[in-house]
Amino acid sequence: MATFSQSDFNSKNYGSCRPTYKTILFEKIYNYHRDHKCEFTTALDIATGTGQVAEPLSNVFHKVYATDPSQTMLNSATKKSNIEYSIASAENLSNFANDSIDLITIAQALHWVNVEKFFAEAYRVLKPNGTLAIWGYVYIIIRGYPKATQMIEEWGTSKDKLATYWESGRRVVEDYYKGVKVPPNLFGKVKWEFYPTVKRQIEEDECVVEVKDPNMEATYTIDNLRMYLKTSSCYKNYMTKNPNSNDPVDELIDQIKEVEGWKDDQLLNVVWPTIFILASKRT
Ligand SMILES: C[S@@+](CC[C@H](N)C(=O)[O-])C[C@H]1O[C@@H](n2cnc3c(N)ncnc32)[C@H](O)[C@@H]1O
Repeated sequence: MATFSQSDFNSKNYGSCRPTYKTILFEKIYNYHRDHKCEFTTALDIATGTGQVAEPLSNVFHKVYATDPSQTMLNSATKKSNIEYSIASAENLSNFANDSIDLITIAQALHWVNVEKFFAEAYRVLKPNGTLAIWGYVYIIIRGYPKATQMIEEWGTSKDKLATYWESGRRVVEDYYKGVKVPPNLFGKVKWEFYPTVKRQIEEDECVVEVKDPNMEATYTIDNLRMYLKTSSCYKNYMTKNPNSNDPVDELIDQIKEVEGWKDDQLLNVVWPTIFILASKRT
């Protein structure tokens, strides 16, 4: 069973300690959506988790549907009168009619799904010209602290640390979705955006947009950083398999504090490298 679906996964912590997405990211989606003369009636947030994307969408769309296969995650989701949560996987959207949704979003989850089935279902459910927005992020960058940044990445990617405790899908996002192809027969006008810039081979009817500013940024205390790292599935899997071992996040934070000379009240400007894809359903 996937980590996020486990009934003892701390979805309350996930809800409060995962980053929310900046307004600028939603503005990019809405501008693209408007450019294709789409309506703001219905949105569907797939793999909604605790509603990080559904909630901001609900301020703009009349009705937001939000799905996740994990009841544990949905139990902690943000409630709003125009958000309807339900259990569904990205590969099976049979609760939704053909050509019924204006915008589909999937954030930090494409790497957990069967992309071929998901693209087919997203195509079926979107209205003609409807927008598909996909994004994901990888290891945090702490501005001004390259050693801390490197230590966090090594913590998640070294085999002698926690690398082997991720589910296999994790490699797809760490590889900036390079292996993912948006099916050109189903979707066109595909925009790829990377922060920081990543080289990618693109196809006809695709473009890469250069960005200088991050789509995701926050001011963190050391405890925010600690709690954020503890929402990682690799941490949950490690603690399940090694219940009597020292806490690997607490150890990492102690090491970073020593190397960087941080006091307990240190404030951190953190940004997340992101992959962001927009596509339009072909008519
Ligand atoms: C890292 S969380 C992302 C949650 C939220 N979208 C966000 O941006 O924080 C990944 C979510 O994907 C869900 N998930 C895992 N496999 C899935 C699948 N096959 N279809 C849809 N969602 C899936 C998990 O239950 C979890 O809530």
